[in-house]
Amino acid sequence: LVDGELKTWSGKTTDVFSTISTTETYQPTLLGSIPYMEKETALEALKAACDAYDRGQGNWPTMRVEKRIACLEKFVDLMKTKRDEVVKLLMWEIGKSLEDSQKEFDRTIDYIYDTIEEYKELDRDSAKFTNQDGIYAHIKRGPLGVVLCLGPYNYPLNETFALLIPALIMGNTVIFKPAKFGVLCISPLLEAFQKSFPKGVVNIIYGRGRQVATPIMQTGRIDVLALIGNSKSAIALQDQHPNKNRLRLVLGLEAKNPAIILPDADLDLTIDECIAGSLSFNGQRCTALKLIYVHENIREEFNKRYAERVDALKFGNPWEEGVKLTPLPEPDKPAYIQELIDDALSKGAKIINKKGGETTDNFIFPAVLYPVTKNMRVYKEEQFGPVVPIVSFTDIQEPLHDMADSNYGQQVSLFGKNVHSLAPLIDTLVNLVCRVNLNSSCQRGPDVFPFTGRKDSAVSTLSVHDALRSFSIRTFVASKDN
Ligand code: G3H
Repeated sequence: LVDGELKTWSGKTTDVFSTISTTETYQPTLLGSIPYMEKETALEALKAACDAYDRGQGNWPTMRVEKRIACLEKFVDLMKTKRDEVVKLLMWEIGKSLEDSQKEFDRTIDYIYDTIEEYKELDRDSAKFTNQDGIYAHIKRGPLGVVLCLGPYNYPLNETFALLIPALIMGNTVIFKPAKFGVLCISPLLEAFQKSFPKGVVNIIYGRGRQVATPIMQTGRIDVLALIGNSKSAIALQDQHPNKNRLRLVLGLEAKNPAIILPDADLDLTIDECIAGSLSFNGQRCTALKLIYVHENIREEFNKRYAERVDALKFGNPWEEGVKLTPLPEPDKPAYIQELIDDALSKGAKIINKKGGETTDNFIFPAVLYPVTKNMRVYKEEQFGPVVPIVSFTDIQEPLHDMADSNYGQQVSLFGKNVHSLAPLIDTLVNLVCRVNLNSSCQRGPDVFPFTGRKDSAVSTLSVHDALRSFSIRTFVASKDN
C-alpha cells in the first residue's frame, strides 16, 4: 500500500512458508507469497509519507480531531470483519494457538478503541490557554513527523498496532514493514487501511530490512524509529540515519525477566504462574520468565513439581484442543535452543524433565536445566524459546546482584507469602526493573499499564496513555492577546 494505492506487483516475490506440515513426511507448507521490494518502492513509500505530512492545512497532521477519529473508527469497523481470516493466518504463520490468536485479535481491537478514548481526553486537556506573566499560551500535543514502524513476529498484530495506531492518531504519517514471520496476516487488512486513511498517511511495504528499511533511514527523512524487536536491528537502523540527534526512538527490545522464589512461597500458585510465565507461546514473549531463581530450601520440591508440569504440557498444532506448545515459526530456532542446552550440559547442568530436548522437525520440547551457573550462555542470552534455566540461591543478594549486573531491566516476578515484610525488597527491585509482579508472572498487560524497561530493554514507554505522548511533542502558540 503506497500513496493510497494497492499496487499490483509484477516484480519478484518471496514465498511465505509455515513450519507446520500437513504431509506424512515433514514438509513446510507454502502459504502464499509477498512482493520482494527493493529500494525504489521503499523510497516511493517514503515520499508518499513525507508528502502526506507536508501537505498543509486540513490534511492529516492538522486535520480536525473528530475527522481523524472517524478514520480510525472506520478502520476498526472494517478490521473486525476480517477476524477469522487474520486468526487463521496467525495460527499458520507463527504457530500461535487458536485461543491466543483470537485473544491477540480482540486485544488489538480493544487497544484501538481505548486509544481513541484516551486521545479524546488528551485533546480536551490540551485545548486550554494558560496565562503566564501576561503571555497567553495555547499548548497542545502535535505530531513528530514521519514514522518508520517495524513490529515483531510474536505479536504481529497487537505489538505492531500498539506502535502504529498511536503514531497515526497523533497526526504522524507512517511507513510500516511487517515482521518476517506474521507478514501475511496483515494482508487482509490492507484494504481497510486504504479505505480508511487519506492517501500517503499509511504506507505498507515488504522486503528485507537491508533492501527497504536501510535506504529509507539513509535519506535522513525519518523522524521516529518505532520498533519492537531486537537491539541489533534497532542499532543497525539508527546507524543508517545521517543525523541521529534528529531521530526519536520508540523501542521495545529484549528482556531476561527473572522469577525469584522465596522459601515461604505458595508452591501451587508459584508453579502455575511459572509454567504460564516461562512457556506461554513456547517462551516466545519478551515478557516471558527467562531465568528462575529458587531458594535452596524449597529447590528440590519446586524443581520436581515444575519439571513434571512441563512434561504434562501438550504439544500439537495451534487449532487442536488443549494444546499449550506449538510449532516454532523460526526454522533455525530448535538448533539455537539445542546449542544453549549443549553448552549448559557441557558446563555441569542437567535436564531435569523427562521429555526435555526431544525434537521433531519444527519443535524442541522445553528443557528445564538445573543447576545453571553464570558461565553458561543460557544464563545471559535471551533464549526467546522453550528452555528454562533454574538457579538456586541462599541469600537474596545473589539474584539482586545479578539483576544489577544484567544488560536488561524490564520486569521481575517475586513469589513469597509475606508481601508486607517484603516492602524494602520490592523497593530495591523496582529500581532495577520497571515492573515488579507479586506472586504472578510477568506480562505486558493490561495495556493501560506502562510498558517499558531499563538499560537495553526499551527506549520510551508504551501503554494506551503513554504511547500518545511518545509519538507527539508539546507545541504552542504564544500571544499577548487572549
Ligand atoms: O513480546 C513481548 C510482548 O509485549 C508480551 O506481551 O506479556 O501480553 O504476552 P504479553
